Amino acid sequence: MKQTQKFGGDWTVEKLNILSDYLDFYLGALKNQKFGKIYIDAFAGSGKIETRDGTEQITGSIRLALKAKNKFDRYVFIEKNAEYAAELQRIVDAEFSTLKQSVEIYNADCNDKLIEICGNVDVWRKSRAVLFLDPYATEVKWAALEAISKTQAIDLWYLFPFSAAQRMLPNKGVVENWRNKLNELFGDTNWETRFYKADPQFNLFDESEKMIKEVNTGELAAYICERLKSIFPYVADNPRLLYNKKKSPLFLFCFAVANPNPKAYELAKKVAEDHILKKGVMK
Ligand SMILES: C[S@@+](CC[C@H](N)C(=O)[O-])C[C@H]1O[C@@H](n2cnc3c(N)ncnc32)[C@H](O)[C@@H]1O
Repeated sequence: MKQTQKFGGDWTVEKLNILSDYLDFYLGALKNQKFGKIYIDAFAGSGKIETRDGTEQITGSIRLALKAKNKFDRYVFIEKNAEYAAELQRIVDAEFSTLKQSVEIYNADCNDKLIEICGNVDVWRKSRAVLFLDPYATEVKWAALEAISKTQAIDLWYLFPFSAAQRMLPNKGVVENWRNKLNELFGDTNWETRFYKADPQFNLFDESEKMIKEVNTGELAAYICERLKSIFPYVADNPRLLYNKKKSPLFLFCFAVANPNPKAYELAKKVAEDHILKKGVMK
């Protein structure tokens, strides 16, 4: 059965253009470096996306990476859905047979797999990587981000689930069931005191103090960057907020560099922050 995923819209194209621009820059800039270059797509999908309204077919991230002009030495695709993973193998065999030996496809949960891959210190002594985290919602665990950062060798593009986080932060107080989920997402518990204040309308005869949410879009985006900065040496201060057709923010596309050497991250910063994110995509 042919597998095509349905999701997204204009924001999907915007996200993939950003990724594609960064891959072109990365492969060009590191062409003559002696370390191995790895592309990791941890939510690899099925290779093809049809927008929800069915109007557009979009080339998925794995194809963008495989068809870039300069090549990575290794491509690691992780996909939890077995049928999508099988479709990825079919695409590689049929369309990218010359790269077949360089591609690894794992039908697995990416958090576990990333922790395993990132823990292989020998690999990171002699390799650098670009990693794309493209979840539907809150699937990325903080422990996986910590493992990525510890490699000191990965440039990360993380599609943070902004609207999912907003939905789990209701106006009138924290929902018990979502507290742990948010702790896992932010890797911290401080969001609760940052985002919720005592209700000034609080009635002295009420038994319990009421808390209300006080955080706007900009403050939430800044908090997400702040959390990433707590583990990554460099995080772009201008992540791209991606909106749906109704102009509601859906995702925050963040860029972080695990390499603590300023020489390494200054170049990545210049391209990602000053060009790709600031001026729009370079195409
Ligand atoms: C937004 S889609 C990715 C699209 C893909 N990056 C592309 O451009 O074609 C998210 C994918 O992640 C997969 N997925 C969801 N949870 C996962 C997990 N924990 N580990 C690995 N893959 C997961 C889904 O099956 C889905 O194919």
